[in-house]
Amino acid sequence: MENTVIRLKEVVKIYDGEYKVAAVNGISMSVERGSFSCIAGPSGSGKTSLLNLMGGLDKPTSGDVFIEDKNIAKFSRTKLSDFRLKKLGFVFQELNLIPVLTIRENIEFPLLLQGWDETRKKKAVNDIIEELGLEKLSERRPLSISGGQQQRAAVARAIVSNPAVILADEPTANLDSGNARSLIGLMNRLNREKGITFVLSSHDEMVLKEAGSIIYLRDGKIIQGA
Ligand SMILES: Nc1ncnc2c1ncn2[C@@H]1O[C@H](COP(=O)(O)OP(=O)(O)OP(=O)(O)O)[C@@H](O)[C@H]1O
Ligand SMILES: [Mg+2]
Repeated sequence: MENTVIRLKEVVKIYDGEYKVAAVNGISMSVERGSFSCIAGPSGSGKTSLLNLMGGLDKPTSGDVFIEDKNIAKFSRTKLSDFRLKKLGFVFQELNLIPVLTIRENIEFPLLLQGWDETRKKKAVNDIIEELGLEKLSERRPLSISGGQQQRAAVARAIVSNPAVILADEPTANLDSGNARSLIGLMNRLNREKGITFVLSSHDEMVLKEAGSIIYLRDGKIIQGA
């Protein structure tokens, strides 16, 4: 099992509001270490719900979610947020960055939460800024840079603490095709060069073409892939 980084066993997520919806309806799957996978499927098929469960942002109604062999469905809230901070990086469709902080401060933020000492923190942040070519933007605030640049900064913040997995929910949805392509190119390079595992969701054909494997969802079930 050491090559499996995330494993889901019979996972069900039911939203129990006015309308009862089984957003994830009995999914078992695993994500291999170092892979670049994409979750595809129509709107409402459960992509966001599945990613939220994989990343411990939400708890399953039933079933188990293992990250590096730890059953996160059994973790307490505090233990889960600590684990999430150390092991996972998140990139969302929008509003990734904190508007009042500079790009540098945004990238530094997860390390601050983890209590990294000043020297180590500075080095990690500088290395990432250089690696992703964000030098000229580092003292600016998110709203004064472009959407593509913001997503690049969001990737920087997600990878700065060297997580095992990056989960990205439709990261290119708000980008034009040129910026979308360069963001996916960047993620692909980090996957190849640093061995970081990526799980994306998208319905963009360009993104799906770049993925090593594709999991197709419909009505909360896997219809192909996994
Ligand atoms: N917080 C919620 N409360 C109730 N129902 C929800 C909630 N979040 C999602 N759902 C329902 O769960 C199902 C799956 O939603 P989800 O957001 O996971 O789909 P998706 O594949 O990400 O869609 P999209 O492509 O539009 O982002 C949908 O039927 C949706 O209406
Ligand atoms: Mg979604």
